Amino acid sequence: MKKHLVAYVNNTFVPLNKAYIHIEDRGFQFADGVYEVVACFGGAYLDLMPHLQRLEKSCIAIAIGLPKSLNELQNLVEKAYQENPFEDAMIYIQITRGVSPRAHVVDKPMTPTLVITVRELPKPSEEKLKQGTKAITMQDIRWKHCEIKSIALLANVMGKQESLKQHVDEAFWLDQQGHVLEGCATNVLAVIGGVLVTHPLDHQVLGGITRTMALQVAKGAGVDIEERPWKLDEIGLTECMMSSTTNAVLPVCMVDKKEVGDGKPGEISLRIRNMILRNIKALRKRG
Ligand code: PDD
Repeated sequence: MKKHLVAYVNNTFVPLNKAYIHIEDRGFQFADGVYEVVACFGGAYLDLMPHLQRLEKSCIAIAIGLPKSLNELQNLVEKAYQENPFEDAMIYIQITRGVSPRAHVVDKPMTPTLVITVRELPKPSEEKLKQGTKAITMQDIRWKHCEIKSIALLANVMGKQESLKQHVDEAFWLDQQGHVLEGCATNVLAVIGGVLVTHPLDHQVLGGITRTMALQVAKGAGVDIEERPWKLDEIGLTECMMSSTTNAVLPVCMVDKKEVGDGKPGEISLRIRNMILRNIKALRKRG
């Protein structure tokens, strides 16, 4: 097994401990950039192209020219995975506007910075899977373009730190009316009256790739789906779950110290999780 971690930085693969970006990179100074996180299972990728397409969309939204074509990016992601020692990996891709003396305004063409790193994909513990995860809610303090996968994640970091302080796994953002928007690094879904409900795609949520997958597999299994604003105290709410590339779908059994439904991982949540895991298994075999 290879020992050293390798990163891709602006056209070269280098040992991770020698991978540097200039201090005047606009990502460092202004969080002027976007990113993606992709999961790879034994060399097989889960929805790599949709992730790269979302990266392109994020770049377009903030007027950064994509530094490589989608096919080139795909090749670089595959090479980055091969250069690193993990069987199951999460691959981080970041694009910033590039390096220039610090000034808010950009008045000349710039060369974007492209970085790819690879880490082991974390696995939820057996205990977490058995008992379900816990979350808190917080008033949404983020900006008004959450559909862009921006590297400006200060609010999300604050939310995650608060969840750590309260010994839970995630913090859910609530809008002014108390609707659940999404988590700090997850989308959030609920089962209300037997229907799978999640906030519609707008500027307040990221269009999660796993969210799409969860809705698709649920639909395929005959579960009704509704994309609408929803609240945790709705009558008939029996299950809650969160979705992300790094977690697939995980049941959420406690929110703000209150049990969701009967306080156990919900049947539909587990079914969706298992269907996604089955897809990953099939992918792994093909890969
Ligand atoms: N986070 N919403 C937010 C705010 C996110 O940061 C993420 C992903 C998601 C889920 O999206 P997807 O299913 O495409 O991973 C929703 C990644 C994993 C992260 O920042 O590490």
